[in-house]
This record gives sequence, C-alpha cells and structure tokens, in this order.
Amino acid sequence: MQILQGKKILLGISGGIAAYKTPELVRRLKDQGADVRVVMTEGAKAFITPLTLQAVSANAVSDSLLDTQAELAMGHIELAKWADFILIAPATADLIAKIALGMANDLLTTLCLATAAPIAIAPAMNQQMWHNQATQNNIKTLMSYRYSIFGPGAGEQACGDIGLGRMLDVPELVTLTCEQIAKTMPDANSSEQKPLSGQHWLITAGPTREAIDPVRYISNHSSGKMGFAIARAAQELGAEVTIISGPVNLSTPESCQKISVTSATEMHQQALEHAPAADVFVACAAVADYRIDHIASEKIKKSQDTMQLNLIKNPDIVADVAALANKPFTVGFAAETQDVEHYARDKLARKKLDMIAANNVAAAGQGFNSEDNALTVFTATDEKVLPLMSKNELAKQLVQHIQDKLSKSLKTKS
Ligand code: PMT
Repeated sequence: MQILQGKKILLGISGGIAAYKTPELVRRLKDQGADVRVVMTEGAKAFITPLTLQAVSANAVSDSLLDTQAELAMGHIELAKWADFILIAPATADLIAKIALGMANDLLTTLCLATAAPIAIAPAMNQQMWHNQATQNNIKTLMSYRYSIFGPGAGEQACGDIGLGRMLDVPELVTLTCEQIAKTMPDANSSEQKPLSGQHWLITAGPTREAIDPVRYISNHSSGKMGFAIARAAQELGAEVTIISGPVNLSTPESCQKISVTSATEMHQQALEHAPAADVFVACAAVADYRIDHIASEKIKKSQDTMQLNLIKNPDIVADVAALANKPFTVGFAAETQDVEHYARDKLARKKLDMIAANNVAAAGQGFNSEDNALTVFTATDEKVLPLMSKNELAKQLVQHIQDKLSKSLKTKS
C-alpha cells in the first residue's frame, strides 16, 4: 500500500543550497501516492526554479502572498486548508526564526500560521549556525508548538565545514513524512490486519568499532541503512522491533527500540540477552571479526616505521544466537566480494542459520553505505533473487520472504 495515497502535502522550500534536492523529494513523495504542492520563498528561487518544481509536482508553484492571479487560483487561506501536512525542506535558520516569532511576511510563513495541519521542518544550515543558542532556542519554541524536526544530519557541508546541519537525505525525509502522517492521521495506516502483529524482531545494524587506544579504532563502511530499513519494514507490518546498532548517523524508525553499542563484544552481549524473547533475529550488522588483544590505555605514540597490532577473534554473534536452545528464526547476512553463493551457503551451514541474505559488496552502487542493494536469499532448500532496488523496498521484500518462510516452518512444526 502507498502510505501517502490521497494525502495532500505542501512542500515549503526556503533559500538554502539543499533546495537543489527538492525535485527528487517531490518525486519520491508522489511515488508514495501524495499530491504535492510547492511553496517557495524568494531565497529558494536563487537555488532552484519554480518551473522545475511545477514540472515534477504537476501543480502550480506558489511563491507570493500578494499576487492577485495566484490568489484567484488558490488563495493563501485555501492553500493552508488544502494541506494535510506541511513539510518545509530545507528550512533555513532565518525561516526557522521567523516561524518561531510568528511572523507572516511572506506566503510560507503566513501558511504556517494559517494552517491546522501538522508541520515538519528539515533544518539545513552551517553547523555553527545550527549550534547557535538563538537557533537552538527557536527549535525548542517550534517543538513546544508541536512542530516535528526532521534532522539535521551530520557530515561535510557545502561550505566545507563538518558537523550537524545538513538536510537529511531524500529517502529519510520521505520515510519520516510517512511515519509522521501515519501517526497523526491513523487512517493513512488503516486498520487492515498486520501480518507481523504479536511478533518480536531483533535486528543488528551498522558497524562495530574495535578500539586500538583512546583515540583510534578499527571499523568498516557500514552505514546501518540496510538494517534500519529492515527494522522499519518489520515495524510497518506490525512487529515489535528492537535494533541493536553500532555507531550510525540515522534516525531510529518510529516505535522501534534502539540499543546503541560500540564494539562486537557489546553487541554480542545485548544480542544474547534479547534473542531468547525474539521470534526473528536478523544479523545485518557488519561485525568486526577481530578485536585488539590489548587496548592501550594512552594514545600510542608514533615511533617506528612499522607497528604490529595483535588481533583476537570476536565471538560470532549470529552463530551463538542460532545455537540457543530457544533460538529465534535466525537470518544472517553474507557480505562477499567473490564466489558469493559458495561463501554464503558455507556461512548458512557452518553458522546453522535458517536463512542467509547474500550481497556482493564489490559491485558498484550497492552494499556498504549506498541507497540501493541487491540480495540473493538462501535457505537449505531454495534461493530467491531480490534484484537491485532501494534498501527500503528491498527490506520490505526480504521481511515478507522471512515471514513466508517462518510461517511455513511453524506449520511444519505443529
Ligand atoms: O549498513 P549498510 O551501509 O546499509 O550496508 C549493508 C551491509 C553491506 C553491511 C549488509 O547488507 C551486510 O552485508 N551485512 C553483513 C555484513 C557482514 O559482516 O557480513 P559477513 O559475511 O562478514 O558476516 C556474516 C554474518 O555473520 C553476518 O550476518 C554478520 O552480522 C554475522 N557476524 C559476523 C561476525 C561476527 N563476529 N558476528 C556476527 O554475527
């Protein structure tokens, strides 16, 4: 089901560099069934043209409070009433300040005052501006007015700074919008029978970090996107979901419980503590196979040209869960760069898993830290190919496949 089917979303765009991402945002919201109308500030038009947004939204773009023609077509009060949900992305520091003050000196700020619809903002600004006390106070004010704040994310910024202040990526904004709409408009989620109701899913996600000394560690490129998408897909189908996550920069899906860990040892301890109560365990985390034998208590000084680190094997989390007497249906992942099927089948058998989802992490545009992925899912008796698609869509198909296999195995047992 498209969760935004028939929903009217008003997308407000203010003048930040992230405005260049908004045509894609409009497209992805429409993919979910939404009718999208765009309102732009004067500043936004310096970054993206109204014509582009009109073309992708298939609706006239509004940009002025005092335009008689536009008011004739759909007046600002009418537009405020039309919206089921207002998303402002990007929301600059200036726009946030204006809304927090209750100003109404352009169309977008006026709509925020005139609407009864829920409003979400996706802040986008330089990291120093985000941390500024004035901005933080304005954000607190908006939260007290029940605005939802989507992000911001952290990372490298257009100005070259690194830190918090990036607008969240489009897939994340779409997901958060769907979640918010499902929460504020329960009919969007409808009361249809949820197939995973009553099930508890435990999912590991992201990388682990193995400390070398107080400032250094060994890790990998996992972003957590695949694991979090699986968590979201299971939760949407009615499961109670717990994510055990290594360090990631993602917002936790609505209603999922997240347990944050750093090292493989911590993830192992949490997984074994929670697995006995779970119906399904999905090991999507990229767990470090080895850790440092002896973590230096002080920063290691640079002296010789070469240095050696002694590594010892970490416990195998998914194998230990699969070995539990009261084990959940256990699904592993296999991240391979060659002979994918051979190594995946070997892990399936050696770790005594019910299922394994294999991905080729050497192929471009998929695997670690990408938006898309492709999987071949093996059980002892069959295989299913899930071709390249977005991780969100892939997760939905994988969760459905796990559920099919789980219900078959339960039928066989009874
Ligand atoms: O996080 P993303 O950026 O979205 O990327 C997704 C992904 C590429 C990380 C994901 O799709 C994936 O392949 N996850 C498994 C990564 C991995 O560690 O694969 P592996 O083949 O090395 O391990 C096999 C299985 O054993 C995995 O289920 C792993 O979680 C598990 N394992 C490994 C070592 C260990 N000590 N304990 C484990 O449980």
